[in-house]
Amino acid sequence: MPLLRLPGLIDPHVHLREPGLTHKEDLFTGTCAALAGGFTTVLDMPNTIPPTSTAERLAAKTRLAAAQAVCDVGFFVGATNDTDPSLVAAAGAGACGLKIYVSETFGSLRIDDLATLAAYFAAWQGPGPIAVHAEDVMLAACLTLAEVYNQRLHVVHVSLKSEIELIRQAKTRGQHVTCEATPHHLYLTQADLQRLGPYGDMRPALATESDRQALWDNLDIVDCIATDHAPHTRPEKESDNPPPGVPGLETALPLMLLAVHEGRLTMDDLIAKMHDNPRRIYNLPPQPDTFIEVDAEARYDFPASGWQTRAGWSPFAGMPAHGRVQRVVLRGREVYDEGRVLAAPGSGQVIGELATV
Ligand code: DOR
Ligand code: ZN
Repeated sequence: MPLLRLPGLIDPHVHLREPGLTHKEDLFTGTCAALAGGFTTVLDMPNTIPPTSTAERLAAKTRLAAAQAVCDVGFFVGATNDTDPSLVAAAGAGACGLKIYVSETFGSLRIDDLATLAAYFAAWQGPGPIAVHAEDVMLAACLTLAEVYNQRLHVVHVSLKSEIELIRQAKTRGQHVTCEATPHHLYLTQADLQRLGPYGDMRPALATESDRQALWDNLDIVDCIATDHAPHTRPEKESDNPPPGVPGLETALPLMLLAVHEGRLTMDDLIAKMHDNPRRIYNLPPQPDTFIEVDAEARYDFPASGWQTRAGWSPFAGMPAHGRVQRVVLRGREVYDEGRVLAAPGSGQVIGELATV
């Protein structure tokens, strides 16, 4: 079996659900899913309960991760409607960035009024970028705010043709903006909703074939592939009010390797978008003696069960996959081998730990 050796991958956008929502996922199960997917670093979003909006809450999350994570984890702090922006900014040194939800999302963190948004853009002092969930016209608002307040902007999960084209224009003009796309927006469209029902519901919602094609056509300006791993339980998804979001950590690499196999991107592009660029954008420390080994020729359909994520399902079940993660070595230690997580809870490191209070 030909083994392909790649760097430990970095997913700059996951929801590990701890604290407050651990029936969906926690810092152990989420980081086990990361290793199974070939990721040795994940950056966790702030829409937990309570939200990660202050240095104290960031420190509390750090302690939880230090006890449980099996891969390295960084944390975003999040803007809220009722936290003083200067308090959130004060937590910046221990965070990988500031996350602002400008468009419809899961949870209570959405901010869509100009005064509050501007206050956050004015207050943030880095060192990480401002990462925005800003769909459609809200993207234009955030690009303007970033320019006016001289902030580095990262646009999460771009899903529309209009958005990727606007980001191209902004980059061409020299604006300091980066962006990410998810495997689900690259592979699925509204047409899949018939088959997937609530299991295909996420924000941004699946878009049209023309939007999906535009992401592939503009892949050269997509800096990162990010999963937006957003686990919810099956009963929640089948309820009268299903929450938006899909798990993605364990399916991203085989989907992107399929794209390499089909000639849609090169292996170098894959490494840039799943390792080099997220490392640069979030200024992540190197992981010495860290790599993954992939059975590069494995062809199979994604299974319906057997996942590490507590969610226990995938919107890609039954779809073709290419390549299988065989082994993960993190800082010289074998942490994953043929379906088994070998790392002890707490063996992952928290990024920015020393900078937190
Ligand atoms: O689909 C989504 N799920 N979009 C978001 O913005 C949040 C995420 C979640 O936390 O479940
Ligand atoms: Zn997200």
